[in-house]
Formats: sequence, C-alpha cells, structure tokens
Amino acid sequence: MKILIVGAGGREHAIAWKLSQNDKVKKIYIAPGNVGSELINIAENVELSNIEEYISFAKKNSIDLTIVGSEELLVQGIVDEFRKNNLKIFGPDKKAALLEGSKAYAKDFMKKYNIKTATYEIFDKYEDAINYLDNYGEKNFPVVVKASGLAAGKGVIIAENLKEAKEAVTDIMVNKKFASSGNEIVIEEYLEGKEASILSFTDCNVIIPLLSAKDHKKIGENETGLNTGGMGVISPNPYVTDEVFEEFQKKIMKPTLEGLKSENMDFEGVIFFGLMITKKGVYLLEYNMRLGDPETQAVLPLLETDLMDIIENSFEKRLSEVKVEWKPLYSCCVVGVAGGYPESYNKGDVIKGIKEFEENERNILFIAGAKKENENFVTSGGRVLNVVCLGDSPEEARKSAYDRIDKIKFNNIYYRKDIGK
Ligand code: AMP
Ligand code: GLY
Repeated sequence: MKILIVGAGGREHAIAWKLSQNDKVKKIYIAPGNVGSELINIAENVELSNIEEYISFAKKNSIDLTIVGSEELLVQGIVDEFRKNNLKIFGPDKKAALLEGSKAYAKDFMKKYNIKTATYEIFDKYEDAINYLDNYGEKNFPVVVKASGLAAGKGVIIAENLKEAKEAVTDIMVNKKFASSGNEIVIEEYLEGKEASILSFTDCNVIIPLLSAKDHKKIGENETGLNTGGMGVISPNPYVTDEVFEEFQKKIMKPTLEGLKSENMDFEGVIFFGLMITKKGVYLLEYNMRLGDPETQAVLPLLETDLMDIIENSFEKRLSEVKVEWKPLYSCCVVGVAGGYPESYNKGDVIKGIKEFEENERNILFIAGAKKENENFVTSGGRVLNVVCLGDSPEEARKSAYDRIDKIKFNNIYYRKDIGK
C-alpha cells in the first residue's frame, strides 16, 4: 500500500511512524512533512499546494489511502473532492467537518442531540452581542467569547468582565481579527474544571474512543502565560476516572453518534472530543474532526492494535468488529520549543542529539519544526520536537521523557518541566 499523509507536524510524523509498522505499507508520502520522515525508512516528503495537486499526486502515484492531519483542508472539502475522484481518504466530508469549522453549527448540533455542553447564544450582529452582554449580569462573569470559524486555536477569549467581553466582540466582529471566521460568534457560559482530550475513530456506525489524554496548552509551568499549540501530554489523563469516562460515553459520545446518524453524516475518520470535567459533571467544549497535536504523539505509541487495520475496517463499515487494544502503560510527551515561542523565536539553530536518540518501543522522538541543512538538523519552527516515553507508571514515563529531552540541545531550547506532574 501507498499512503499519503497531509500535514507538517509531530502528529503527522507519529501517524507515519505507526502506519510504517504494518508490513503491507510500502511507501508513505507526507505533504509537506518535516525532517522526521528521515527517521522512517519508507517515508518521503512531497510539496503540494492545493486540493487539485493532492488529487493529481494521489492518482499519479496510485495512492491507496490519504489521511489528513489538520483541519483547514477538511473544512475546505478535500474529502468530497477525493471521493469525486474515487480516491480513498480518511476524514470527514465538508458537512461533517463543520462540527469543527463552525462552532455555531457544533453548538446547535449539541443542543439538538442533548449533548451536555455550556449554555450559549449565537450572534451575527455586533449590536445584538453587545446588548446581550450588557444584560449578562455582573455576577455571571467570566464569560467565553468565541469566533465561530477556524482560528488556529486562538479564537476563544475568556473575558473576566463586561469591558473585556465587549473588547473581544469588537476585536472579532468589527476589527475582523480572525477575518471571516468572526462573522458569527458564540458567547457561552464559563466552565471551571479540568480539561481532557478523548480522540476517537468512527465509521458513523460506531465511535471507538482512544485512551484519554491531557494536553498542556500554556507556555508556562502551572498553566501560566500565553496559549500554544501544546507543550506536552500525559496519557491516560489522570482526571478521566472510570466514572468520568462512563458519563462521557452516556452524555456525550452516544448522543453524538445518534446525531451523526440522524444528520445522515457518512464518513470514516476521527472525532476528537474536547472535554471539561467540572464539579457539575462532564461537558463537551468542542469537537475537532481530526487527530490532536500533540495528543496523537502520546496516544499512538500506546496503541497495540495495528492502525492500518482500524482504518481499513472503518472503510468496510466494520469498525465495531475491531478489538482495539492498548499497552498497559502510561505515556508522557514533552515538547521542546524554540525560546521565545509562541511569540518571536529564532530559526536555523543546529540541534544536537537527534541521531544519538536511542529509539525503541518505549522511547520515541517525533519531529515537528526541524529541517536538514548541510547534514545538520536545524530548527525551522516554534515547536521543534516531541520526546515521547512510555512507562509502567506516569512517574516513570515522565522521568524517561525528561532524561531524554535533557540530552537534546539547541540554542535557547525550552520545555515545561511539569508535564503530567
Ligand atoms: P475550544 O476551541 O472551544 O476548545 O476552546 C479552546 C480552549 O478555550 C479550551 O481548550 C478551553 O481551555 C477554553 N474554553 C473553551 N470554552 C470554554 C468554556 N465554556 N469555559 C471555560 N473554558 C473554555
Ligand atoms: N491539542 C489540541 C488540538 O490538536 O487542537
């Protein structure tokens, strides 16, 4: 089989790494990929710039399966276009991708199917949003203001008071901070609790949840400072107890499946549930319709079952028959970033320690923002690499990950010391 993976991050490296373990997989192309492909014998990067180019590449190279890592192309309808050309692609079609691409659509879907979520209102007129906030009631703050469309994880503002909330609405709807993604906004109840990511596979007949994960979104230790694309992950998520998981299945996962069926959604792909575990129970914050980054890097190494097997069965609508098995271990992923990230940072710094990294079943290095220059690995992005280690306990996984990332050196490398603590 020949596979095409779309994306450039650590997540795509992890997907390629896992798929390369299947003997039937002879070649993996990653578009655009990163230098991680050098660490996988059968992987190669390709430059493709739009959906037409992806289609012609897939045809010309007899690609058997395409997997899309990030959301933008899914929302643009890459799956529909591939299907029209009889090309197999793992991901939601344009309609289902709206569950991620439009927070307004997703919230209405949650309400319609009785899925537990924060109370909300949707606005497409600035005056109406401001009027709503004026009557929100001082004691009800903070409030959450969200641009409805895609905003690379930056479109959510938690406003502590009326002034901040109005500023957020003005930024989004008048100053067009997120362009047309802010034509509609969602204003919703603030929920306090612990976050959890539960990724799942679906063939729209069944949803198979993966092990839970805990992302660490802020740049600083103890969740302080600016938001990032993710600084590390621990899996399973310690806050997802059996009780929480049962509640998730009953109040979120099952009604989501009913919703998919009732709306005649039909695709093979991923649903990523972003959860908030509160004193009042488990709430769904959002859907993402693709694997998470960096959750994937932490979760896939724990997956015992062959990933290709899961994907192939989903295309045959037999996902319910797959027995998904997990290593009885814990995983810790620590992300090494370029100092200064998520604001300005340096690129082109030589990275030492990649070749020396002793990779085995329990210790893996996934590359995110690095490239090769004159035989050296050099940094090329903010999030540079992910060290993922498995252990018999969360502490062992953490210790292994920190022992190993400590040996990787580049100018101004930074990583949080409290992932999974
Ligand atoms: P979303 O893209 O909707 O998941 O929002 C991004 C982040 O904003 C989440 O991971 C949470 O940290 C935070 N967030 C979103 N909605 C809420 C909410 N209703 N209450 C508290 N925090 C929220
Ligand atoms: N880690 C969150 C995301 O992939 O959106």
